[in-house]
Amino acid sequence: MRDREHVIRNNNAFGIQEEIATKVLTDGPEDIEKAAEIIRGGGLVAFPTETVYGLGADALDVLAVSKIYRAKGRPSDNPMIVHIADRGMLSELAAEVTPDMEKLMDAFWPGPMTMIVKRLPVVPDVTTGGLDTVGVRFPSNPVAQALIKAAGCPIAAPSANLSGKPSPTTSAHVINDMMGRVDAIIESSDCEHGIESTVIDMTGVIPIVLRPGVITRTMMSEVLGKKVKLDPALNARVGENFQPRSPGMKYKHYAPQAEMRIYAGEEAKVRETIESEASKLRAAGQTVKVIAFDDEVSAAHDLFALLRAADKENVDVILAAALPEEGLGFSVMNRMLKSAGYNIINV
Ligand code: TXA
Ligand code: MG
Repeated sequence: MRDREHVIRNNNAFGIQEEIATKVLTDGPEDIEKAAEIIRGGGLVAFPTETVYGLGADALDVLAVSKIYRAKGRPSDNPMIVHIADRGMLSELAAEVTPDMEKLMDAFWPGPMTMIVKRLPVVPDVTTGGLDTVGVRFPSNPVAQALIKAAGCPIAAPSANLSGKPSPTTSAHVINDMMGRVDAIIESSDCEHGIESTVIDMTGVIPIVLRPGVITRTMMSEVLGKKVKLDPALNARVGENFQPRSPGMKYKHYAPQAEMRIYAGEEAKVRETIESEASKLRAAGQTVKVIAFDDEVSAAHDLFALLRAADKENVDVILAAALPEEGLGFSVMNRMLKSAGYNIINV
């Protein structure tokens, strides 16, 4: 453990002041053992995965999992993803393992894919938000795998951000959000992918993508040899007046503090429009950040970090160029649209 501890005063459920000392751990074997001990003892540990950092607790321990909601400030009906470190752990959580699930596991596990499956009673309501299903993921990140193995239990982990903030893709992001709120943070490398895992509902005959990610619908459809549907609400478009379709869509899941606008259309036109908008806004005294990516992979990797940087720099307006909504571009646009509160302008 590094010689660094942080203590803040925290309100518990009864409004009583409580102190949480957050240990900052390395990703070496000794510290992973310490982190595993914390998990086994019902504590909270933030850890790296290949997608984003997660905030973990023993998935089968009701009290431990309920602490996650408090640390994040997250609504308690939002279910968590349960992380496992070998395929055998799935059959301890899932009521059935179908041939389609086997095919997806063969192709994409360990990796950035979460399968929604019917749960066994051992998985508590607090972990699934009361649903009769559970999301399960086998991450490829070696530190995540070592932690789960050492803890000896499945680990429930949402992204390790404060609710409403962009998911953390570096340990600095986690330290920023979670110091004083959790028992330990494992400091490790930046996340390889930068957007959260693909969530695929495997409980029906036709699999449905609930959250797009690095593993795309086409990739899964090819492996399964059948159709995979997209949840129709994904990347929903708003009318020309840019009003959200429903009040629920107003909720900005990954919101920066700045106003964010996405410009879509022919590339040169988009660039031109963003440049002229930026100079107008700057002339009016606004701080502007322009986001334009070279490719989808770096877009996924950098998006959340850029949104967090905009907050740090007190940016007033973010002007972003849309990506083509195919493959990974579709997944990144899903995050960008949420960040912008569906504020997309066709030029
Ligand atoms: O990449 C990831 O998935 C990261 C890392 C830490 O593994 N985790 C993550 O967790 O993004 P979280 O809690 O931020 O997002 C989980 C998503 C939510 O949209 C949640 O509603 C959905 O998965 N989900 C989880 N369990 C579900 C279930 N049983 N049915 C439907 N959706 C579920
Ligand atoms: Mg999240």
